Amino acid sequence: MNTPQDTPGALPVQEALALPLSDVLPGVSRAGALSPKRPAVETAGLADVFPYYAGFSFEWACHQIARHEAERLRGATVLDPWNGSGTTTLAAQSLGFNAIGLDLNPVANVIAKLRAQDYSQVEQIKRPHLSTDVFVEEDPLAAWLSETTVRRIRQWFKAGEDIGGPTQGLLTVSLFRAIREATKQFEGSNPTWVKRAKNSAETVLVSDEELDAIIERHIRFVSSRVEAQSSPRLVHIITADSREMPVASDSVDIVVTSPPYLTRIDYAVAYSRELALLGVNISSDRALRAGLMGTTLIRRQVEPTVEFGKVGSNLLSLIQKHDSKASSGYYLKQAQQYLADLTAGLNEITRVARDLATVHLVVQDSFYKDVHVPLADICIDEVTRRGWVLRNKPERFPVRRTLTSLNKSARMYKKGDVVESVLTFSRE
Ligand SMILES: C[S@@+](CC[C@H](N)C(=O)[O-])C[C@H]1O[C@@H](n2cnc3c(N)ncnc32)[C@H](O)[C@@H]1O
Repeated sequence: MNTPQDTPGALPVQEALALPLSDVLPGVSRAGALSPKRPAVETAGLADVFPYYAGFSFEWACHQIARHEAERLRGATVLDPWNGSGTTTLAAQSLGFNAIGLDLNPVANVIAKLRAQDYSQVEQIKRPHLSTDVFVEEDPLAAWLSETTVRRIRQWFKAGEDIGGPTQGLLTVSLFRAIREATKQFEGSNPTWVKRAKNSAETVLVSDEELDAIIERHIRFVSSRVEAQSSPRLVHIITADSREMPVASDSVDIVVTSPPYLTRIDYAVAYSRELALLGVNISSDRALRAGLMGTTLIRRQVEPTVEFGKVGSNLLSLIQKHDSKASSGYYLKQAQQYLADLTAGLNEITRVARDLATVHLVVQDSFYKDVHVPLADICIDEVTRRGWVLRNKPERFPVRRTLTSLNKSARMYKKGDVVESVLTFSRE
């Protein structure tokens, strides 16, 4: 059985194990531009096991990767340096490609690994032995849950660690789901901003019996969803920074990815409860939050001076000149930081890609107040500056619901339509 590993390195050529395309994706070969947008309800590729902010649908990822049949026969490797919940890595391995997925957020990697595992050897999960010997003082979960409830969750979490293997991931994701269910009251209209209890009286208390029932219900659901996963596959899912990829130079054939957009989504806050389960307290430990691309924190260390292309520089000057408060201060710095991270990631993609590689990017334009953020044009400019050639007439798809439309103060500025673009690059 191939299991996902945390160690990067040269990947062996995968044996001829690809499933017939029609098994994975009926209708994949149909003509016409397929929107990358994930449908509101998606179960394809196990997208429903945990709600993770997605750049694109499983169907779209399969569609892009399936075009590279000749590369597959040569044992090609697909990389997603902003892999999120692992849509790319799952699509790649389902179609018989080697896959590497990087994400700095360990929560994303738990989901991506859950989707990548082989469950053919996993027996039905029975209630594990719950050790009473767990330490819950200063537990980051106490920001939402009472001490008694945290203790019970820790007992389940420890049972998963003791079992290990694919079962551990399955239990962890079931706990993610159970914690979300118990702490729903801390979610607001903006799904990426999770509040915390103001004091211990506001924390949620769930009895052991009730909590066990909730957890077991989620274990049953997650188990039923992964049951279908049994084909052998080879994938590396690594907690790593796209600005410094632990990937050999000149080793990747296809990149399929969607970087975070300039929309002020804070992935660390959005997944603060799941990070807490994994032992990361984002209030006291700023490292993860600060490292994520698009973070709303301004880093303390001096950023290296980066020269951006014309389109990115023009955006920075429009933000700087904007007459609203903090535009020339905080917001300018945030945009500069974002562009520095984006271009550092593009430098790394250029380093790890083979000469004949193809890059498929999904990016969404957005607005800073009334200033259009032309992320697709910024990417075309920055990627071509690095020696790549745009190979498609960019496919642009309208986006109906954006995060800015949920933000009241941002709504007062007049904005145009927002589009998502699909860009394909290769080298000369
Ligand atoms: C748009 S999401 C990708 C969604 C993905 N395509 C999916 O289907 O789930 C962008 C991802 O980039 C990750 N990310 C942000 N900064 C990063 C960094 N410096 N290095 C690696 N990943 C990063 C975020 O944690 C997030 O999961």
